[in-house]
Amino acid sequence: MKALVLAGGSGTRLRPFSHSMPKQLIPLANRPILEYVLEDLRGLGVAEAGIIVGRWAAEIRAAIGDGSRFGMRVHYIQQDAPLGLAHCVQVAEPFLGADDFVMYLGDNVLPDGIAEVGMQFQARRPAAQIVVQKVADPHRFGVVEIGRDGAVERLVEKPAHPRSDLAILGVYFFTAAIHRAVASIAPGRRGELEITDAVQWLLASGAAVEASRYDGYWRDIGRPEDVLACNARLLGHLRPAVTGEVDGASRVTGRVVIEAGARIVRSRIEGPAIVGAHTVIEDSRIGPNTSIGRDCVLSHTDLAGSIVQDGASISSVRGLRSSVIGRSAAVRSLDRGSPYHRLAISDHVSLELAG
Ligand code: G1P
Repeated sequence: MKALVLAGGSGTRLRPFSHSMPKQLIPLANRPILEYVLEDLRGLGVAEAGIIVGRWAAEIRAAIGDGSRFGMRVHYIQQDAPLGLAHCVQVAEPFLGADDFVMYLGDNVLPDGIAEVGMQFQARRPAAQIVVQKVADPHRFGVVEIGRDGAVERLVEKPAHPRSDLAILGVYFFTAAIHRAVASIAPGRRGELEITDAVQWLLASGAAVEASRYDGYWRDIGRPEDVLACNARLLGHLRPAVTGEVDGASRVTGRVVIEAGARIVRSRIEGPAIVGAHTVIEDSRIGPNTSIGRDCVLSHTDLAGSIVQDGASISSVRGLRSSVIGRSAAVRSLDRGSPYHRLAISDHVSLELAG
């Protein structure tokens, strides 16, 4: 079975981060989202994957390479404009040929893996096997209606008035029957060729479409709050390892990774947390549920439930919570007693200041 990984979208809901990196490379527990995707695919036995790339092709290639690190061969397939998930299947048709494949959206994270559904698909080979989970906000997703007998009755992309609370996860298993479906549908309301419509077309044409319920953790990384929640979850899976330096006046508790070359000085680190290579933390209190990238400098800071990306610096800021700080960003307090805030922030930044 081949894999098709989608990493072409524009990620507007993740601005400003998506101005300077593709959302599929946003770090979770200090590793780009795409690495989790490829590891899950490896667990399915995939040996060959095509990654659909758009304007961030060079960055994605630089991060993932030829795939050998993940035990597979990776091909890059250029999509000139983000015209929808079904359009990606069309663009990838020369790569996919007549093979069965798993299509995995590069912004979906399933830390518990999808191997079980993959095995079901390979045993039964319906034209399409989708994966569903009950959600509180089905209007944000493709939604599937399932009959009393468990049969798939209808699929609708982001309905305004959902008739079901079962969302379609971003992992789909297909036989080559999907190619005729994507060639037969028209663009939907958002002007894109929707994969949901292609699967609905298969169903209407009498092909076998099956849905598996997924009980594991799943997150579609659409918004900053998804990034933070998923980061916390993945930190909980870390194997603790302290290879950096921790001085005698510091305390490290819980599930913590401190990478080589990092230095913790007179600070408290509460897991789950990760501190990247060559980062220096002084007189600070960090964690829980916090990732700090490499080459950061944090001093006199109190930070929890947050992500600090590579090269950022934070000085004398207390009470930072649920924050995402971009690469090489600088946050610091003005001298004590200053009544003002002073900001130099770029487009689409969201800032919430206390008091
Ligand atoms: C896409 C699909 C949607 C699915 C979701 C899962 O939505 O169109 O059916 O439920 O992925 O992550 P998008 O992320 O493109 O809005």
